[in-house]
Amino acid sequence: MTNQNLSKAKKEKNDEFYTQYPDIQKEINAYLEYNPNVFRGKTILLPCDDPEWSNFTKFFAQNFENFGLKKLISTSYAVESKKIKQWEPTIFETENPNYDADKSRTNGKIFVLDHDTNQNGIIDIDDLEWKYLEGDGDFRSDEVKKLRDEADIIITNPPFSLFREFLAWIMEAGKQFLIIGNVNAISYKEVFPYIKDNIIWLGVNSGAKEYLKPQGGFKKMGNTYWFTNIDHGRRHNPLPLMTMEDNFKYSKHKEVKGIGYIKYINYDAIEVSYTDAIPSDYTGIMGVPISWLDKYCPEQFDIVGMANGGDLGVFYGVSSNLSNEDCKKLFQEDKGFRKGKLCYRDSNNKLISCFAKILIRKKL
Ligand SMILES: C[S@@+](CC[C@H](N)C(=O)[O-])C[C@H]1O[C@@H](n2cnc3c(N)ncnc32)[C@H](O)[C@@H]1O
Repeated sequence: MTNQNLSKAKKEKNDEFYTQYPDIQKEINAYLEYNPNVFRGKTILLPCDDPEWSNFTKFFAQNFENFGLKKLISTSYAVESKKIKQWEPTIFETENPNYDADKSRTNGKIFVLDHDTNQNGIIDIDDLEWKYLEGDGDFRSDEVKKLRDEADIIITNPPFSLFREFLAWIMEAGKQFLIIGNVNAISYKEVFPYIKDNIIWLGVNSGAKEYLKPQGGFKKMGNTYWFTNIDHGRRHNPLPLMTMEDNFKYSKHKEVKGIGYIKYINYDAIEVSYTDAIPSDYTGIMGVPISWLDKYCPEQFDIVGMANGGDLGVFYGVSSNLSNEDCKKLFQEDKGFRKGKLCYRDSNNKLISCFAKILIRKKL
């Protein structure tokens, strides 16, 4: 791809897909199950939202009293900044006395819920008040930053193309959060160090497989996850695992049964290709698939690092047990050897270079 095409592709990144109501409900209910007061007395900010299209605002507004919220704020990004071609304002907007035809295209909006505006005795979605923001609703703007600072918890499905920046924006303010991101985000250098140190973790459910398109229909997304620093029950549930000996005897995986575990060539750890084949009694380091992370229980394992994880490089948190000289020698013996990858020889002596692996160790 030429540089010009590359930057065009970047610009055309599509961040317009919306989370379905049941997916939000399922995830949020799991935090409430763990701590029924998790949202009580809290101000929640839903940035990068759009209540006319998206469900986060609807969900929290409908549950305002139920959750005991103090205040709900949501902000939307201006249509012109979103670069949506076909767009008409909704009747909700045009019939409101606040409607301004120009601002409707160029400005973001803010929706606030904190009291019973229609005085019908309950605070719910009908009490939402809105106005245009001064700017386009960019989360990086001073006015949205102020709202961030006012909030206790930030919840949204942010633009994936700005995920790193969005997470940094939350972390610099030290807020609680629950956001959706792509599987690749796990190995971003701005994300994995927090995961390793148990400062952030994956949510209860894996992310949805389908999101709503504004023009109708669904956008299928391979691997999305919830990322959070709000505690939940799933992460304190250790994985039921067999011992090394029992895996050797009974594992359902042909790579393990009757074979056992193979050590990497260039790092002192064993390869464990399947989460359910992690031996419960091994005390050394193990390389496990990224998908293990949504079964991670910090009372059961420590994360020591990552190998071949995107922009984290070959090894993060640990280093290879081979010198450059050793690597050169190995390469001469077997041209399949890659210094830049975690490698092992399978039971047929075939050299295997691994995809990204999380390196873990049993909690002692
Ligand atoms: C993945 S969508 C999700 C929308 C909504 N939160 C939901 O889940 O239904 C991300 C939204 O962020 C908006 N967005 C993109 N860049 C933004 C920015 N710099 N500041 C605020 N919002 C932005 C996009 O226009 C898009 O509507």
